[in-house]
Amino acid sequence: MALVLVTRHLPEGGLDPLVAAGHEVVQREHDVAFSTEELVAAAPDHDAIVCLLTDRIGADVLAAGAAGRLKVVANAAVGYDNIDVAAASRLGIAVCNTPGVLDQTTADLAFLLILTASRLTSGAEADLRAGRWTGWGITDHLGRDVHGAVLGLVGYGRIAREVARRAEGFGMEVLHHTRSPTGFPGYVADLDGLLSTADIVSLHVPLTASTRHLIGARELGVMKDTAVLVNTARGSVVDEDALVDALEAGTIFAGGLDVYEGEPAVNPRLLGAPRVTLLPHVGSATTQTRSRMARLACQGVCDVLAGRTPPNLVTG
Ligand code: DGY
Repeated sequence: MALVLVTRHLPEGGLDPLVAAGHEVVQREHDVAFSTEELVAAAPDHDAIVCLLTDRIGADVLAAGAAGRLKVVANAAVGYDNIDVAAASRLGIAVCNTPGVLDQTTADLAFLLILTASRLTSGAEADLRAGRWTGWGITDHLGRDVHGAVLGLVGYGRIAREVARRAEGFGMEVLHHTRSPTGFPGYVADLDGLLSTADIVSLHVPLTASTRHLIGARELGVMKDTAVLVNTARGSVVDEDALVDALEAGTIFAGGLDVYEGEPAVNPRLLGAPRVTLLPHVGSATTQTRSRMARLACQGVCDVLAGRTPPNLVTG
């Protein structure tokens, strides 16, 4: 029987794989995050850690764990930029994530942002709620059409392909860009080529050193002044100050964001920016999907501890 530290309370059923395998789950009574110092102190005494994307599992936590009994860290998220995977690899600690189980749910949310950002519905609802709506006006609340628009996907992993599938139903032309050719129709080799052609750009790349501020002032300048930018990937893929500058200057039409550079803090300039819909990182937030994510992370731990290679292994 292994000792598994689960840093936060998980959705119903999330712990089932650990319980079924007979492992001892260690959790706080209250759902309060561990500080880095607390994780460093706890890591050596546990065989596994199940964490969230809000837990920073750096080299310090991993080195402390490796000096003790830590064998695996499982992130209940598909993105794992909160974990120092290179350090884990060096120290022989396996890392797992949750690919596959959130694709459809996150694509739904990306499409919601495509729609709401293009049609300016957040601002329209805010006007209604604030009593600013004085009646139907033929020039009021004018958004941009989604049907028939050109959708440019940056990244073409599972979630992006699900967004593409939804876009087909809206009669959109779908283009995609990745660093290496995908071999699929709609591939655009040059990012600027995609940015300058698309009516709506949706970001689907992981956060790495090479994707940090992938969309900055220069790239926003390449986009059409009628374009819409949607980000459901990671906040730091976009230079938020440059995005606010572009929205304020009207050099792009609108934005839809689910993720932020300093989350949970949100750049105050974004809060005051025009024509932008802001959601609190809810891409995968459905009861069913969050439960699947928790179970997959815990199953990864069970597999590693049993000497099996889990399908959701990032590095082993
Ligand atoms: C992830 O899993 O990486 C998302 O950002 C949250 O579901």
